[in-house]
Amino acid sequence: MDVVTDRLKTLVYQGQNLIDSGLVSGVFTDEANIRITLEKGPHADLKDLEQEIKKILADLDREIHISITTVFNKIPYVKKIIAVMAGKGGVGKSTISFHLGKELARYGFRVGLLDADISGPSVPQMVQSYQRPSINTELEKIVPNDIYWMNDSKNLKGVFMSLGLLVPQGASIALRGPMVQHALKQMLFDVAWGSPEELLDYLIVDMPPGTNDTHLSFLKMVKPDHALLVSTPDLLSLADVERTIHMLRRIEIPIVGIIENMSYFKCKHCNHDSSIFNRDTVETFAEQVGIPFLGIIPIDTRMRHNDSTMPRYMRDICQRLDEVVVDVCAE
Ligand SMILES: Nc1ncnc2c1ncn2[C@@H]1O[C@H](COP(=O)(O)OP(=O)(O)OP(=O)(O)O)[C@@H](O)[C@H]1O
Ligand SMILES: [Mg+2]
Repeated sequence: MDVVTDRLKTLVYQGQNLIDSGLVSGVFTDEANIRITLEKGPHADLKDLEQEIKKILADLDREIHISITTVFNKIPYVKKIIAVMAGKGGVGKSTISFHLGKELARYGFRVGLLDADISGPSVPQMVQSYQRPSINTELEKIVPNDIYWMNDSKNLKGVFMSLGLLVPQGASIALRGPMVQHALKQMLFDVAWGSPEELLDYLIVDMPPGTNDTHLSFLKMVKPDHALLVSTPDLLSLADVERTIHMLRRIEIPIVGIIENMSYFKCKHCNHDSSIFNRDTVETFAEQVGIPFLGIIPIDTRMRHNDSTMPRYMRDICQRLDEVVVDVCAE
């Protein structure tokens, strides 16, 4: 393997040796084969380079297999992408994505929300908007639907896209692996999230539960700038978050922090706080794994609606997201 890597280093791609250029994402060898994986941008042509690689390794007397995958980096006219993730289902990813959007819109940012849950899209229902998105024929792009977040003074506007908008309400969606990737790619790259005149400050991606291959490929395609994690204070939920953290670290997506959702339930009648799970579990976990703890959100029925009387849960959490917010302001 070392000899292969050393030889690949003698080739130049975009002014750097092939290994340092980041083009090579894997080298696997056995007695009979050398397998090389290259990850290229959508417009790169690697035909000549492929020949050069084969030439430089020819005397090693092994079968050479080169596979090339195309990585679509950034979404045009989008400044920052935040993926809201948990690993586990039903812990509040969609709810938090929705309220995070509202808080960022309150700061004055242009915000988009992408419901990446292909089999169980929930954002149209939260937003109460089901009409089919229109097509901008000039740009040949889908125009995302508007979201209006209820706010005390004036409602806040953003945009959203969900596969739920493209199928009849209540219909089941069963897509096979390659079709899932295709649908997600369309929702990222065929939607006019921003324009040269109006850049989108944040695209919040509400991720589906799970940590399988589909998630991994999707994250590689999206390349989010930040991942925001959500967990209930329950060991089962944290086990799934831990798997998510491993996946994110492997593909070098920075984790901005973790929110504890459904921390306790306040009884409307006696005003008593009941902990449904254990207290402080997520904060202790965050310390152990070395990620910032961003705060807690109790079970509150107002979290389930587009409600202008919501307490400041998300606002307080967003104040701790300074790093992300300042990044966008600085650009
Ligand atoms: N803090 C909260 N207070 C009250 N209800 C909540 C809270 N957080 C989430 N919920 C409710 O819990 C349910 C699950 O939340 P949500 O759909 O946001 O989870 P999810 O992680 O996106 O689920 P899935 O994995 O299915 O996509 C929803 O009915 C939502 O309204
Ligand atoms: Mg969801």
